[in-house]
Amino acid sequence: MIKKAYDKYVLPKLLDVCCSTKPIKYQRDKIVPHAAGTVLEVGIGSGLNLPHYNLSNIDKIYGLDPSAELCDIAIKNALEFDINIDFLINGAEEIKLKSNSVDTVLITYTLCSIEKIDDSFNEIKRVMKPDANILFCEHGLAPDYSVSKWQNRINPIWGKLFGGCNINRDIPDLLLKAGFKVHNLEQMYLPSTPKIVGYNYWGFASI
Ligand SMILES: C[S@@+](CC[C@H](N)C(=O)[O-])C[C@H]1O[C@@H](n2cnc3c(N)ncnc32)[C@H](O)[C@@H]1O
Repeated sequence: MIKKAYDKYVLPKLLDVCCSTKPIKYQRDKIVPHAAGTVLEVGIGSGLNLPHYNLSNIDKIYGLDPSAELCDIAIKNALEFDINIDFLINGAEEIKLKSNSVDTVLITYTLCSIEKIDDSFNEIKRVMKPDANILFCEHGLAPDYSVSKWQNRINPIWGKLFGGCNINRDIPDLLLKAGFKVHNLEQMYLPSTPKIVGYNYWGFASI
């Protein structure tokens, strides 16, 4: 009951604020403008990537997210842009799109929160055209033991407060184990961000 109310009324606003920091906006600008063609944004959340798209390269965006509350915020935000966007209120474990139909999969700060990650990667692969790219930017496991030990300790509590978010996922390893090739991988601690949530990985992945 309390959890349901928290997830409905508190969590969407909390995620929107936490994902709106200046360093994260800066990260979005490194990745999102590369999206082109038919785009599937996995875990679109409140639509914080929308201002960062290069709209002249976009035919269509499908914004997927299991949270109806976050999608409602994203729908309002999308009205500010001249974009062809449809929302799919669902998790990535089941993507209601045709196979081989997507040119770009955009995933930012979402791989941390997907529970059934293997099923979701299989679905993402299914909808990707053979030459499609995944553009990703995620926080994850830090390379320094002094940080990762705290990530591992805090992770179970963190997930309860932040919608199932895991702060200790090895993002490149997840992509590689799912059978993707990873390109142009970059990583660093974001400035002005607590280190346990501030280690970012970003780049491209392909089938
Ligand atoms: C930290 S928020 C990030 C939102 C957005 N991607 C951004 O960059 O601001 C994590 C998002 O993952 C979504 N999410 C959780 N489980 C998911 C799943 N199984 N499939 C797709 N998205 C999921 C949440 O609803 C939430 O919108």
